[in-house]
Amino acid sequence: MKTTETIRSMKGKEKIVGLTAYDYQMAQILDRAGLDFLFVGDSLGMVCLGYENTLPVTLEEMIHHGKATRRGVKEALLIIDMPFLSYKVRIEDSVYNAGRLIKETGASAVKLEGGKEVAATIKAMILADIPVMGHIGLTPQAIHKIGGYKVQRQESLIDEAKALEDAGIFSLILECVPRDLAEKITEAVSVPTIGIGAGSKCDGQVLVINDLLGLTERKLKFCRRYLDGQKEIASAIQRFIEDVRKGGFPSEDEGFD
Ligand code: KIV
Repeated sequence: MKTTETIRSMKGKEKIVGLTAYDYQMAQILDRAGLDFLFVGDSLGMVCLGYENTLPVTLEEMIHHGKATRRGVKEALLIIDMPFLSYKVRIEDSVYNAGRLIKETGASAVKLEGGKEVAATIKAMILADIPVMGHIGLTPQAIHKIGGYKVQRQESLIDEAKALEDAGIFSLILECVPRDLAEKITEAVSVPTIGIGAGSKCDGQVLVINDLLGLTERKLKFCRRYLDGQKEIASAIQRFIEDVRKGGFPSEDEGFD
């Protein structure tokens, strides 16, 4: 079973590879494929629950999907997202919510968005024995403040990354950051950086599984589709409909004497 230490020790040696997962079956498939970590992201809200953005996702929804995902994972490190307003509130409440995610789902670490402003919260979580992954660059929970899903180019991200490293994170997501800046951040911190739309110089990569499989409508510049999932599934269902309507399903073998 991989741990936060496994991930930390991979920096500079081998690329770290992770994907999101939100349920038991997909987690089992992804875990068996040999990923280093699985991540129950709050992207759950957009890809599984049909919300417009990640803001409505609740702690209870994360716990529900986190538990299901946990049952499918044997080897990969399981990390779970803290949803909007489950932190950046009173530090005691943030630590309690992080603790609930760990205790009730069986995940090994939490991830939260933000820079210097969450450093004290992260320190308090680590004092409570909860490992934390950071997330800077495009932070989707701040979508109204940022004003859209835009590439984040500010050099100050280097200082934000260092502040999170000092607070004790074991790794750091860089989302939608130009590749040169991501490289500078990767060189500036001793913890591994995991890119999503942040170029190839990060210590690892993560993608949303539904994007990779072509299940989502959205076509993101930084995401490679390894399957045209919508098309493949629709074609399988059309074949099923046709078989039933034409009397081709079920056959004699697909029933009982
Ligand atoms: O919620 C999510 O899926 C994320 C990405 C960084 C993978 O935060």
